[in-house]
Amino acid sequence: MAFGHGKLILLGEHAVVYGRPALAAALPQGAEAVAEPADRARLEIAPWGVALDASEIQADERAEQLRQAFCALLDGYDPLPAFRVRVELSLPGGAGLGGSAALSVAIVRALDAALGRQRDAPAVAEAALAAERVFHGNPSGIDSALAASGGVALYRKGSPLESVRLGRKLTLVVGHSGEQGSTRETVASVARQHARNPAKLDQIFDGIEALVTNGRSALQTGELWRLGQLMILNQKLLSSMMLSTSRLSEMCQAAEQAGALGAKLTGGGGGGCMIALCEHAAAAERVQHALEAIGREAFIAELGA
Ligand code: MEV
Repeated sequence: MAFGHGKLILLGEHAVVYGRPALAAALPQGAEAVAEPADRARLEIAPWGVALDASEIQADERAEQLRQAFCALLDGYDPLPAFRVRVELSLPGGAGLGGSAALSVAIVRALDAALGRQRDAPAVAEAALAAERVFHGNPSGIDSALAASGGVALYRKGSPLESVRLGRKLTLVVGHSGEQGSTRETVASVARQHARNPAKLDQIFDGIEALVTNGRSALQTGELWRLGQLMILNQKLLSSMMLSTSRLSEMCQAAEQAGALGAKLTGGGGGGCMIALCEHAAAAERVQHALEAIGREAFIAELGA
């Protein structure tokens, strides 16, 4: 099975589109794909009820976007015999958890495997970016890089991924706002704000870069309290760009009141998920219950050793 990881952005989303570094961790959840020879190129994503032909324009907007993303991936092969690609996903879409990058990486790996082609993770991530451009317009590449490599890493556009060795395991609660976030829309909104007031936005991005630099050392030394504080500050900066929603803010507050060391939205924002950093598993369970008590779904992610 060909696999692509989902991911959590710990610090630095959006600023990463403008060349600043960001810290992210791959999730064990993601997308699995298999490709088998067929009479025409087809994509099937059972959990989303998607079954489409690469050559047939789809009436449904979401299905058409998936078809175009699939075609962008197929264009990376020359010439490509027809394949039926089946995908299973263990991540929600529109949640800020890198579902589309996981999907794209899994498809590239499935096609490569069917063709007996071998590529390293950065080359797979680069190929998957063609689909991410269809989904997100102007992706930084962080989602595809983490989807292909796994682990915890610092990413900066145009530079090789820098793996981060954790001083302590990370226990995070991932809470879903139940609101669908569109990374394409939030990235476009930040671009408009940047065009209107570049000095202000660059100052925010510089602030986020400082949090990321500090965050990398907190991850390495295992100073979770410091990392939690950095997450709180990052959430404030993301809110100042109107990327949070009242529901995401309420969830971050509930998590912190229940004992989380820090909480913030993760990924594109405007809905989707938030993350809360916890001292240990028992604290994470309390935070998970606090989120469930206000009607939100949440799961615990333990990352690294
Ligand atoms: C999305 O997971 C992260 C963003 O920074 C967009 C990107 O980097 O492509 C919002």
